[in-house]
Amino acid sequence: MDKFIVKGGKSLNGEVQISGAKNAALPIFAAALLASGKFTIRRVPKLRDTITMIRLLEIIGAEIEFKDSTLEIDTTKCHNPEAPYDLVKTMRASFYVLGPLVARFGRAKVSLPGGCAWGPRPVDFHITAMKQMGVQIDLEEGYILAKAEKLKGNKISFKFPSVGATGNVLMAAVLAEGKTTIHNAAREPEIICLCEFLNKMGAEIVGIGTHELTVDGVSALKPVEFEVIPDRVEAATFLIAGTLLSDELVIKGADRNHLETIFTKLEQAGCNLEVENDFIKINRVERLKPIDVTTAVYPGFPTDVQAQWLALMSLADGTSVITDTIYNDRFTHVAELNRLGAKISLNDNVATVDGVKSLKGAHVMSTDIRASASLVLAALAAEGVTEISRIYHIDRGYERIEEKFSSVGADISRIHK
Ligand code: EPU
Repeated sequence: MDKFIVKGGKSLNGEVQISGAKNAALPIFAAALLASGKFTIRRVPKLRDTITMIRLLEIIGAEIEFKDSTLEIDTTKCHNPEAPYDLVKTMRASFYVLGPLVARFGRAKVSLPGGCAWGPRPVDFHITAMKQMGVQIDLEEGYILAKAEKLKGNKISFKFPSVGATGNVLMAAVLAEGKTTIHNAAREPEIICLCEFLNKMGAEIVGIGTHELTVDGVSALKPVEFEVIPDRVEAATFLIAGTLLSDELVIKGADRNHLETIFTKLEQAGCNLEVENDFIKINRVERLKPIDVTTAVYPGFPTDVQAQWLALMSLADGTSVITDTIYNDRFTHVAELNRLGAKISLNDNVATVDGVKSLKGAHVMSTDIRASASLVLAALAAEGVTEISRIYHIDRGYERIEEKFSSVGADISRIHK
């Protein structure tokens, strides 16, 4: 298992290019299963998770070439509508293939994802909605066996605007008979991106970007060329790094429209941001103000930036309160940040952070993608040397993060074990 060795305190200056969004790319790969033929997907980040999804598509029968951020997917020979446990357990997003496989093959065998590092993360919304669309669902040896002669449009209403369930239902509904309405749908930029991809393939989705989606099923879809949106979580992570450590860090390739809430919070913390269409400039804040955040669905503060915000607030001048309303248990990074000298206490889903003057290097362990990002940020800002183990977690969601940080002056290296 690889490790990072970080010598903290280096100033970060220069330009960083933001990669394509993992959480937009993954459902798009799954959606390619809906049509037979050759797709070209650009701006694909090379991550453990995108590689896992590629492997899954190959098991299903797709032929794939991945070169310089461009993915060519040929789905002509797809024949095996199955997502094995070995892959699904390493990446829950594999569950996205359920809707497209049933839509194209009339059947699917998809492993249940099981729990994850920060709690149960159920898939009940996905399953209930599939049943409402005429899919027969049986559970056998940890696998969902799904069958449908023909998917039927229906009125689907989510208790909570789940990103994954919205994506799965959309991918089933585009080839279903009749109209599907999704009430309380997710409206995250990654779902908008999926809708645009599906519409380019010939789907008929309206209400894109709202909580009410309507899909008129069509009889067939066609392969297309498409470009994935930039990763707003990666951009937010680099903005936080700049707030802690830069004289001038320039973030390029991000979409400013997806980052409004992050900009507002950073400005409240004392940041002086320069936001243009093609770049965002940020520099260090000498006395960071403590700013509370509560995570919420888009356009609220993203749960995927909660851990990184905790790292930032650990060095603020006062006390802040960070509440995660999306995932109650997503705080495995707290104990690790405290090993670096942070003063964070946890009460259920509420973290109270007493800002400290400085953090100090230590051995810490990554526990999930965003938790690892918070440890990298804290380590970059800490005095002395930090060793971060289990960095395979960060490789799931950040493309060459150590190279990107090194290129702007950080002292971070990967030790191969
Ligand atoms: N939920 C249910 N039942 C379901 C589905 C969701 O109760 O059937 C609950 C979840 O337990 C959670 C809430 O609804 O409390 C939101 O979950 P959602 O379904 O929206 O999350 P997801 O689709 O599993 C995606 C991202 C996550 C991100 C969340 C929230 C992908 C591949 N994953 O997960 O990203 O945290 O939305 O925005 O898009 C990450 O990138 O590090 C990551 C975890």
